[in-house]
Amino acid sequence: MNGPAATATTPPAPAGDVAARATAGFRQRYGGEPAGRWAAPGRVNLIGEHTDYNEGFVLPFALPLRTVVAAAARDDERWTVWSELDDDPVEFGPDEADAPGRVTGWAAYVAGVVWALRAAGHTVPGARLAIASDVPVGSGLSSSAAIESAVLAALVELGGLDLPAERWPRLAQRAENEYVGAPTGIMDQSAVIRGRAGHALFLDCRNEHVEQIPFDLDAAGLAMLVIDSRAPHRHADGEYASRRRSCEEAARALGVAALRDVDVADLDAALEKLPDDETRRRVRHVVTEDQRVLDTVALLRAGRVRDIGPLLTASHASMRDDFEITVPEVDTAVEAALAAGAYGVRMTGGGFGGCVLALVDADSADAVAAAVTTAYAERGFAAPGTVTALPAGGAARLD
Ligand code: GLA
Repeated sequence: MNGPAATATTPPAPAGDVAARATAGFRQRYGGEPAGRWAAPGRVNLIGEHTDYNEGFVLPFALPLRTVVAAAARDDERWTVWSELDDDPVEFGPDEADAPGRVTGWAAYVAGVVWALRAAGHTVPGARLAIASDVPVGSGLSSSAAIESAVLAALVELGGLDLPAERWPRLAQRAENEYVGAPTGIMDQSAVIRGRAGHALFLDCRNEHVEQIPFDLDAAGLAMLVIDSRAPHRHADGEYASRRRSCEEAARALGVAALRDVDVADLDAALEKLPDDETRRRVRHVVTEDQRVLDTVALLRAGRVRDIGPLLTASHASMRDDFEITVPEVDTAVEAALAAGAYGVRMTGGGFGGCVLALVDADSADAVAAAVTTAYAERGFAAPGTVTALPAGGAARLD
């Protein structure tokens, strides 16, 4: 994703490289060989934004970009973590792990997983871990969920813990919510852990029911262009938390457990009961977005991949006008890609920057990428990153 690429064909670094970097880091920092290597991918969300914490529907897929953890157990109850992001390893013990917020920076995602496992009553093995990643940080591709999930996979196996993978997303989400302090939903960790190659993950965030929806872009002659908007994240954390609060207050005002319970057919009546225009817009986004996810799933089940385009574009308009989470770079990328012939384009992820997804004919991906790059140059924005991506598999042991 990095570099001012004007072409859509920049391939992601092969997974072998990132695994080799994790192993080399392990050998260099700790000496000896890791007991194993565990990987977890980044993700994009095809559709269903800010619906997860409203107990609604999402449709993300895992990316071929991965974070790899090379790890080995140690005899004492301590955790040493080295990452490519930093020269010095971070070491912590039970005191720091049991006190949310004590470990900070990237290592908080690791300490958070140890905390969440211990809080759930598991005996977590002490370990040495070395982390390398091809998931860019700060691009909205869930580099944090990738670290959490790869570390979780490693610790579960090193400790022989009785913890089926279906329960990992909730645990990793607790690490992020309660240890790191980010009030995110369950989507990212679910995509990263439960994603399957060639499929999008249809997730009901109320009960975590999952259905793998075939999403075969190649067979349809299509490609998904992932455009890194390169927009600096402006107040993204505070804005995310305030959107979440508005939705929860609106649900209370409407007397429902969550906005998921407002049927799109009853939307107008629900909106009339709300106190102000801003709240009405927030609710309209969430309720219509849930319906767009269901409509997208129905089209994909019918094999009509190209036809999901208008739903993607409508989702973007809803995020821009009603949920108000887009920024000029993102809107520019969307408009330029649509004008260059994309079937549907939308921002993906929490908002205020991050990536844009464009559904395009496979043989027009380069032209669409070039059109976005030109539009950026005209407005004086830093060049976007562009890459095409197919749905990949979720967290797993490598060897
Ligand atoms: C971020 C959060 C997710 C989800 C999206 C918006 O990625 O981590 O839980 O809320 O924003 O859909």
